[in-house]
Amino acid sequence: MTRVQAASQSRISIDYYNTTVHAVGDQDGISDAQIDSLAGRVASAHARIHAEHDAGEQRWMNLPDDMALVEEIEAFAAEARERYTDFILVGIGGSSLGALATIQALAHPFRNLQPDGVRVGPRLFLLDNPDPEKVQATLETVDLPNTLISVVSKSGQTAETMANFLVARQALVNAVGEEQAVKQIVATTDNRSGLLRVLSDSAGYRTFPVPDGVDGRQTVLSAVGLLPAALAGIDIRQLLAGAAAMRAATQGDDIRTNPAYLLAALTYLADTERGKYMLVTMPYNDSLYGLADWFRQLWAESLGKRLSTDGREVFAGQTPINSLGAIDQHSQIQLYTEGPNDKLISLVSVGAFRSTVNIPNPPAETPELSYLADGELGLLLDRELLATAWALREAKRPNLTITTPVVDAFTLGEFFYLHQLQTVMAGALYGVNPFGQPGVEAGKNATYALMGRAGYEQLRADLTGTVEGADAYRLTVRDQA
Ligand code: PA5
Repeated sequence: MTRVQAASQSRISIDYYNTTVHAVGDQDGISDAQIDSLAGRVASAHARIHAEHDAGEQRWMNLPDDMALVEEIEAFAAEARERYTDFILVGIGGSSLGALATIQALAHPFRNLQPDGVRVGPRLFLLDNPDPEKVQATLETVDLPNTLISVVSKSGQTAETMANFLVARQALVNAVGEEQAVKQIVATTDNRSGLLRVLSDSAGYRTFPVPDGVDGRQTVLSAVGLLPAALAGIDIRQLLAGAAAMRAATQGDDIRTNPAYLLAALTYLADTERGKYMLVTMPYNDSLYGLADWFRQLWAESLGKRLSTDGREVFAGQTPINSLGAIDQHSQIQLYTEGPNDKLISLVSVGAFRSTVNIPNPPAETPELSYLADGELGLLLDRELLATAWALREAKRPNLTITTPVVDAFTLGEFFYLHQLQTVMAGALYGVNPFGQPGVEAGKNATYALMGRAGYEQLRADLTGTVEGADAYRLTVRDQA
């Protein structure tokens, strides 16, 4: 592995005045003393995280450096972009959310509708939920002889992914035959273990690795996120360069100047000291909505833990919510402004949009609309963000604004690394292990049991047993006429 040099300095900024007591008052705001009181804990967690990294743990931090993988992915993707008109991404949770966030942020918003020759790379279809209507519609829509199936599963056994894969694979075999189908499937999975590894080795699928020691939700900068991104023509080197730049910008242990630690401290204090049990991420830019969705999983699965690292029952976590500005000003903001004051709202602002759309002068009959013609659409959206931040502050609702000058591969890479380190530090502050997801595994095991998987017989018996009295609490709606 070689270390990527940051292509340029990090350019993201965080304005958190509206989270403070100065802006929203003592009851809801965070004081300087509260932030400073965490400085020691943050510094010692920083030392521990780096010591663990030096000892071969915290491996997600290494992902921006794997240039050999980048070359392999680029070579594969360059051929695949020429060869295929469609690709089906089969994967769920951490095995698809990062790729989706990347493609939504960086590719043409309607790339699937662009004609061949204009669109960069094949059309993308996602099979995450095993919803038969969507799966069937997908298989009816793609051109199977010209479709690449990319199946992604770290464990290699997630029921939704494996079921969707078996269905898509069979459709491909029916369309092109067994031998050709093998050439049109690529699997991203653990290098050594899991059922997808067994299937891939026996069938001879091309594979890419899910790195060891990295949870699914931390794999966006591995082949899991990079391969689909490269298939869509995204500059994955810039993505990694941005992540490396954020890594360089977060080497210090100072709570006030390390942006990841500052965000971790603000969110933790808002939750535990000010009753802001929910964290709303609200980009004012459609292309970053996928990033908010990716972050939602990262925050929920990493921090939502029953046990602390020393074994106490703590039920930690802060509920993450996605919102989209300005759309949710006409939906959620009423609640955020006047409902329970239990949220910290993180607005995401973009300095310059990639398109400029001027608003024309209104017809003479409606001079009242001429105030709109002074600006353009991006300016309107930006002003709406400022208006929301102000209105929230007036209502004593803490909020902060993260600003990126542009949305590009570099800044997106910065966001990915920033939020991952924020989450690891927040885990330290909550005193929970941000890695692993025992609650997710419990649901997966129950699914295996209910579907009759061998080895899960006892759990199946427990799950399907009759619960005395439960029938009294079931309402079946009937026609009363
Ligand atoms: O973050 C995680 O570990 C999970 O959300 C997984 O990504 C998700 O459950 C899918 O698992 P797998 O990649 O093993 O199919």
